[in-house]
Parts: sequence; structure tokens; C-alpha cells
Amino acid sequence: MASSISLRFATLSIVITALLAFHANAQLSPQFYANTCPNLLSIVRAATQQAVNSEPRMAASILRLFFHDCFVNGCDGSVLLDGTTTMQSEKSAGANANSARGFDVIDTIKSRVEAACRATVSCADILALATRDGIVALGGPTWAVPLGRRDSRVANFSGANSDLPGPGSSLATLLSMFQVKGLNARDLTALSGAHTIGQTQCRFFRNRIYNDANINATFATTRRTTCPSTSGNGDLNLAPLDVQTPIRFDNAYYQNLLTRRGLLHSDQELFNSGSQDALVRTYSTNSATFFSDFIAAMVKMGNITPLTGTNGEIRRNCRRAN
Ligand code: HEM
Ligand SMILES: *[C@@H]1O[C@H](CO)[C@@H](O)[C@H](O)[C@H]1NC(C)=O
Ligand SMILES: *[C@@H]1O[C@H](CO)[C@@H](O)[C@H](O)[C@H]1NC(C)=O
Repeated sequence: MASSISLRFATLSIVITALLAFHANAQLSPQFYANTCPNLLSIVRAATQQAVNSEPRMAASILRLFFHDCFVNGCDGSVLLDGTTTMQSEKSAGANANSARGFDVIDTIKSRVEAACRATVSCADILALATRDGIVALGGPTWAVPLGRRDSRVANFSGANSDLPGPGSSLATLLSMFQVKGLNARDLTALSGAHTIGQTQCRFFRNRIYNDANINATFATTRRTTCPSTSGNGDLNLAPLDVQTPIRFDNAYYQNLLTRRGLLHSDQELFNSGSQDALVRTYSTNSATFFSDFIAAMVKMGNITPLTGTNGEIRRNCRRAN
């Protein structure tokens, strides 16, 4: 009798432990809006496709917004907030000012989602979905995006200035800034493959093309033609992060690194006789491995301290708290 009670108690506590573990580890789920907003995925996909059709670079701009959202107070839509008289925006921080873009596309998607499912879907989740759909639109891999994030009521300007790595970063700095966010070396190298699409301004790569030694000379000469050595008028001139296929999500970024054609100093740091060289070589010849590692790392990045349950809110307008 006594042993049967303690056996039942043991079984019950195993079940409770399993339930708690489920809630702690699986707060986000791809099915989160299956009942509350059944058309969500098709609305976001169509709107993102439309935006990328009219400007392919938009897929890159949205992907970068997601990265900058998740690295600052977690994936909580904080990057989307406009500043107020009492709150400085993340948009105005160093890494984003005159650089981050795509906010108008997120606004358009949000208004279509609100029209279908009022006050239901967070801006943070819309950004996560549009990011995936943009990558797919440029030929990249697809995956099920875990959902259920809620939106912050505040931005973190100082966090955006301190937690986003700069283009002059060393490998050691990149590794430690990703580690702080729970991302390991493999995640860093896979996520950096995002630079297979998109553009960058001369002011971010000037130092590399004039002062770095480990750069392909032909490539440096080409880039110098539209990026003068002194700061001024040319600062905002654009060049593709991937010299080969800038609007195709593929593994050419890693091939570029092997020929010393990474455009940012931080890019080339991943292949500079260091710990990531072997993985860069693998990704450069094996796009399936790159894609599966990239997906795993994107899901991991998307899980950085989300607001869930009753924390935060479902913003009606992604630019301001309710
Ligand atoms: C590893 C550290 C990283 C550094 C230092 C870095 C730095 C930069 C810089 C300086 C730009 C150019 C911005 C401009 O000229 O306006 C850029 C663009 C971009 N970054 Fe990163 N980045 C990093 C990691 C990432 C990650 C993890 C992702 C996404 C997973 C990402 C996605 C992008 C994309 C897609 C663009 C192009 C944006 C566009 O064309 O609008 N980056 N990055
Ligand atoms: C802003 O970000 C910094 C750096 O991650 C963090 O230490 C700080 O607690 C954040 N502030 C708020 C109000 O969340
Ligand atoms: C420089 O880039 C070209 C492609 O533009 C490549 O053929 C060459 O091998 C590269 N040089 C080095 C040293 O990697």
C-alpha cells in the first residue's frame, strides 16, 4: 500500500516535471496562431514577396532588422519603435542610424495582419516570419518559424549601442558578443552567411579596403572606385556584401572569404587563419550544411529572451507602444 502510493507520487512528479520542462523550453511554437489567426502565414508571405519583388534588397534589410531586434533585449520588436520625447529609439543608435531600413514594409504587413486578426499577432513575430519569407524569396532555405513572442513597450538605445557588433570587430570580439547572447562559434559563422545578400555603405568598409592586408588586391581596387579613402560625400555609397550573387541566398559568401573578398573586416575575420577557417571551407563547398546550420542558428537567435505569456503587449502599431 505504502509503496503503491509512493510509486503513484513518483509517477505524478515525473509528469509534472515533464510539463514544467515543456513550458520552460518550448514557449514558442510554429502553431501559436493556428486558431487565432489561421491566415497569418499566407498574409505575411504574400506581402513580403510583393516587397521583395519590387526591391530584392528588402529581404536583406528585413533579415538585418530581425538580428538587431533579437540582440537588443531579445526578440521583442524593440527595434521597430520610434523615439518619443521620453525614449530614444534603437533606430537612432550607431548601428542603425541612416542604415537600418525596411520599417515601412513591416508597417504594411502589420496593417494587413491587423485587418484580418485584430490585436492578435505581435510585431516581433511578424518580423520573424517576414525574415524567413524574404530569405525564401531569394532562393534560400525554408523552415517553420517558432511564434508566440510579445512586444516590448520600450526601446533600449544604450543596449543597441553596446550589444550589436561593429564591422571592425575581431574574431575574438565577435565570438564573445555572440556568446553573451547564447550563440556559439558555429552559430556565429552560420549566421554571418546572412551577408550573402544585401548592401553596405562605404563608411563601414573603407578601413578594410584601404588598410587591411588580408584582402584580395583586385577586389580592393574595384571597391575603391566607388569608396574614396577620406570620409565625406562617398560615405553612404553602397556595395554588395556578396560580390558574386548579392540577391541570391546561397553559400557564395563563404567562397568569397576563401579568396579574401569579404567586404567587412568582421567578415574576413571568419577566415583569417583562425578557429573558423575549417567551417568556412565546409560551408563554401556544401550549401546543404550551411543551410541546415543557418536554420538551427536562426531558430536559436529567434529564441533569445522573448516576452511571452502576459509579459509585454500586442502592439497595434509597430512604431509605438499601445
Ligand atoms: C557578425 C557580426 C556582424 C556585423 C559586424 C555586421 C555588420 C553589418 C554592417 C556594417 C552592415 C551594413 C549596414 C549598412 O551599410 O547600412 C550589415 C548589413 C547586413 N547584415 Fe550584418 N553584421 C553582422 C552579423 C549579421 C547577422 C547575424 C545577420 C543576420 C542573421 C546580418 C544580416 C545583415 C544583412 C542581411 C545585411 C544587409 C542589409 C541591407 O542590405 O539592408 N548581419 N551588417
Ligand atoms: C539595455 O541593454 C543593456 C545591455 O544589454 C542591459 O544591460 C540593460 O539592462 C538594458 N536596459 C533595459 C531597460 O532593458
Ligand atoms: C582574388 O580574386 C579572384 C577573383 O576575383 C581570384 O581568382 C583570385 O584567386 C583571388 N586571389 C587570391 C589571392 O585569393
